[in-house]
Amino acid sequence: MLFLRTAEDNFMARPFQLPPLPYADNALAPVISAQTIATHYGKHHKTYVETLNKLVAGTEFEGQALEAVIRGTASKTDQTSLFNNAAQTWNHTFYWKCMKAGGGGKPPRAFAERIDGAFGGFDKFRAEWINTAIEQFGSGWAWLVADGDSLAIARTGNAAVPFTMGLTPLLTIDVWEHAYYLDYQNRRTDYVRAVIDKLINWDFAASNFEHAAADHNFVPVMSA
Ligand SMILES: [Fe+2]
Repeated sequence: MLFLRTAEDNFMARPFQLPPLPYADNALAPVISAQTIATHYGKHHKTYVETLNKLVAGTEFEGQALEAVIRGTASKTDQTSLFNNAAQTWNHTFYWKCMKAGGGGKPPRAFAERIDGAFGGFDKFRAEWINTAIEQFGSGWAWLVADGDSLAIARTGNAAVPFTMGLTPLLTIDVWEHAYYLDYQNRRTDYVRAVIDKLINWDFAASNFEHAAADHNFVPVMSA
């Protein structure tokens, strides 16, 4: 009997996919141009996902959720590349969700009150987030996190994620140069201010905080 191989037979399922952007590639312009999206999402983010799939194949982490791969490799010095690509896959999917067309402005009332209580007012919070983003030396991320029941600003270098440190990510800003160089060259401060003032998706942050308040171990799921 002759068995014909089909395309499906040769298809090896890959555990992770590049999630679609939650908006059109020009939706964040002029703060973040379609050209930056084409490179940042279409090349950098895509490459992290593809490299992750190559590195995870055949390891004990194959088939695990993205968040589990990150937790499992975070402290393993022989899994640095797998951790970096898994964490960067997670960070970028999360980052895209942190922004929307027509975002920025002030948070929803209840969440705004929590920010006022934690930082002494929205303007102080905004200034601390901007300063933290500027002071991150080299590549990394500037975060708003839940630390138990309270809020805090945090920064991480390279691919590091807050949830391996007991902090729940609520918002992030990518401060790798590839996030802003085409639009702002070296002016990271201008990029960070514009993202906070014009793009931040406060509903996403407030939703993350509601989940974090109910479960201190909550981690937003970015597996795709
Ligand atoms: Fe990035």
